[in-house]
Amino acid sequence: MPLHKPELKRRYDLTAYMYDQRYGEIQRKKYQVLAKNLPRANRALDVGCGTGMFLSLLSQKAKFIVGIDMSAEMLQIARKRAAGAALVQADADNLPFADGSFDVIVSVTLLQNMPDPAFTVREFARVLRPAGIAMMTSLKHKHSPQQLMAWTTAANLKPLKAWEMQNGEDVICIARREG
Ligand SMILES: C[S@@+](CC[C@H](N)C(=O)[O-])C[C@H]1O[C@@H](n2cnc3c(N)ncnc32)[C@H](O)[C@@H]1O
Repeated sequence: MPLHKPELKRRYDLTAYMYDQRYGEIQRKKYQVLAKNLPRANRALDVGCGTGMFLSLLSQKAKFIVGIDMSAEMLQIARKRAAGAALVQADADNLPFADGSFDVIVSVTLLQNMPDPAFTVREFARVLRPAGIAMMTSLKHKHSPQQLMAWTTAANLKPLKAWEMQNGEDVICIARREG
């Protein structure tokens, strides 16, 4: 089971200062894969954006970019890096946005942290517009591509692709919101 949210938040707050140094290289491999599949968009959301490493890639494809994270310390670093993005401290299970607000949603290495990932994916689907694209990853030692596909399907998203990275630690699913 993942840690309870307040404890997890405390840990990310405490370790934010060393996140990029410790995880930058491995996260960047994931971004390369995701960037290849990223469509052009008007409004894009990064859920669990952390220190904002993916936000600059998003800004090459989307006009308006929003990052949300529950850790104030992670967001503090993101703020310095991604000046053009709107950054909001919020829980991924309770996104402070209206239904259908975004054309694209990305979430990199968040779902392994969530107590009920199926619920979280439904929240992604709620704020995604019809025919919008969701790209999500989780750690492969926690979840499988089949699980990601099952959660997306249950959330009324159509899985387009789901796979395990060969040279990375994540499973990835790309899905489109139906109807
Ligand atoms: C492994 S890091 C990944 C960060 C970023 N996506 C990246 O690519 O480096 C997970 C992030 O999810 C955030 N997080 C964990 N649980 C969350 C929740 N319930 N709501 C919002 N953010 C959460 C953490 O604060 C942390 O920044």
